[in-house]
Amino acid sequence: HREIGVAVLGLGNVGSEVVRILRSASADFEARVGAPLVLRGVAVRSLGPDRGVPEDLLTTDAQGLVERDDVDIVVEVIGGIEPVRTLILTALQSGKSVVTANKALLADYTGELASAAKNADVDLYFEAAVAGAIPVVRPLMQSLAGDRVDRVVGIVNGTTNYILSAMDATGADYADSLADARSLGYAEADPTADVEGYDAAAKAAILASLAFHTRVTAADVYREGISAITAADLASARAVGCTVKLLAMCERVPGRPDVADGEDWVSARVYPALVPLTHPLANVDGAFNAVVVEAEAAGRLMFYGQGAGGGPTASSVLGDLVSAARNKVHGGKGPDESTYAGLRIGPMGDT
Ligand code: HSE
Repeated sequence: HREIGVAVLGLGNVGSEVVRILRSASADFEARVGAPLVLRGVAVRSLGPDRGVPEDLLTTDAQGLVERDDVDIVVEVIGGIEPVRTLILTALQSGKSVVTANKALLADYTGELASAAKNADVDLYFEAAVAGAIPVVRPLMQSLAGDRVDRVVGIVNGTTNYILSAMDATGADYADSLADARSLGYAEADPTADVEGYDAAAKAAILASLAFHTRVTAADVYREGISAITAADLASARAVGCTVKLLAMCERVPGRPDVADGEDWVSARVYPALVPLTHPLANVDGAFNAVVVEAEAAGRLMFYGQGAGGGPTASSVLGDLVSAARNKVHGGKGPDESTYAGLRIGPMGDT
């Protein structure tokens, strides 16, 4: 079989792990895919020594790397909207499959990206965009595609869960806990995205879109962060047998109030909630994430694992890379935009 050329955009916590594992386990990847995966280049913001990657693989010309004829799959782990949106569209339109961990981009542009992927007959995979290592995108998109999901509720931001867990367990203050989360590589470049709930809201938008086969954007998600939560709040929660967790709640709500026959509608919210200590989500500590899915036929499912950090996020990115590469070699195709076109669901709203 021919080689599969891979371009990696970004060499932060996640990109570094993706490149390290890809290079150190190349024989395993070749065996699993049926052809060698060859790293053609890594796009970085600035060149420098000691990036852990041979210098001849590094480039600051991301656009040029994406357009190379010998690149079959583009892995995007830069984050943010531009220039990434343009790079990904360029990749898709030129017939390259894309693997991305970019929740902010997907939350607002899934429709555009999924259409571009469909038009070019290539794959767009994004397991790493929600809950790091935990498989939750694929289960919602594929395993549960024959069921009716009624609710998805989860802890999907490791930074805030680390902070709230530390405040609850040790009475540590908010600022110290945030500094620890940042030093462990969990926080976003701008931790406002974590503590004010924007990161969780983007993930809630993606989960709601997949669960309810509709298109939910981050702007549709009610959002409240944890920056106003105090150690005293956690102590009060304890006193009534609860803890505080930042929850992403996505629900199918029957009967739209403004329509006579009442179509179902979708409510998606991110907010700090009192969670009884007897509930499984109460015991999800540190940077761990968990997502509970309730579906009509399946009943209740729970997905649990490491939701942030270089290694766990790289695991999902590399799983997607293997899927995309197998499809290139063997001719398969991942789920496409029909994922979002199954049901008619009314406008968003708060319950
Ligand atoms: N900043 C994110 C978190 C990283 O803390 O969960 C994973 O998306």
